[in-house]
Amino acid sequence: MQRQALQWRRQGVRVGFVPTMGYLHAGHLSLVAEARRRVGPEGMVVLSIYVNPTQFAPTEDLARYPRDFARDSRLCREAGVDVIFAPNDADMYAGREQGLYSTYVVEETLTQGLEGASRPTHFRGVTTVVTKLFNCVLPEVSVFGAKDWQQAAVVRRMVADLQFPIRIVVAPTTREPDGLAMSSRNRYLQPAERAQATVLWRSQAWVRKQVRGSGSGSTAGLRPEALRQGIQALIAECPAARLDYVEFVDPDTLRPVDRVRRGCRMVMAVFVGKTRLIDNGAI
Ligand code: PAF
Repeated sequence: MQRQALQWRRQGVRVGFVPTMGYLHAGHLSLVAEARRRVGPEGMVVLSIYVNPTQFAPTEDLARYPRDFARDSRLCREAGVDVIFAPNDADMYAGREQGLYSTYVVEETLTQGLEGASRPTHFRGVTTVVTKLFNCVLPEVSVFGAKDWQQAAVVRRMVADLQFPIRIVVAPTTREPDGLAMSSRNRYLQPAERAQATVLWRSQAWVRKQVRGSGSGSTAGLRPEALRQGIQALIAECPAARLDYVEFVDPDTLRPVDRVRRGCRMVMAVFVGKTRLIDNGAI
């Protein structure tokens, strides 16, 4: 991949990159379309498929994470992806099992709260693998989904802090007709759980209505605790759902806000059955 990327660079070919863990859905394909828009018809769009072990804790779903390379390949072909980069663990982490892999990339601030608080080793794996993928693909532009808002913020910060010559684009979340954010993990949901999983979207809509509906709410802002209680009440109506966290944060620094008003970001994680779903949205 790197040899090919260097050749493209010498030839002046523009490269757009979409990193994924596979089991593609319409959300991923919207990132491909954005990458294509950025590099134009003459450019190369590369999509990586790699289920990165270092971003999963031992208790998480690495082994059962859904994989279907044949289907992914077909979707990529139909979506106009030029190259699928699908490395394996031996390519990416040679010697790790024997203790011979020891270099990681760590962002120290934005990773502390939200997903980082619930999944303490997750972002070290993400920043490390994204760096490695960038070094293989050498893209000019890379597209990430807004659904993983904290991930996108962390990658943006890493790219700025470490002077990667790469433009990071964050593309909107793609949703099912009932509002559920598309995710490869949605396939874990049992039918009864699938119906309840819309509570993440309904919670956002409810908060937006509270903040935008009340004249004073949009300017002075509402108390996060009061909104959290309202969300807990919505979640309590769904027997399979349990709130992991909901925070109201500045969209760039991810710092919690004292008052929730227009422009801040609501970020949440909810267990529906055994499946942990995340979502976020502008308030
Ligand atoms: O968002 C994902 O699918 C993954 O975290 C990423 C960016 C491909 C890194 O493994």
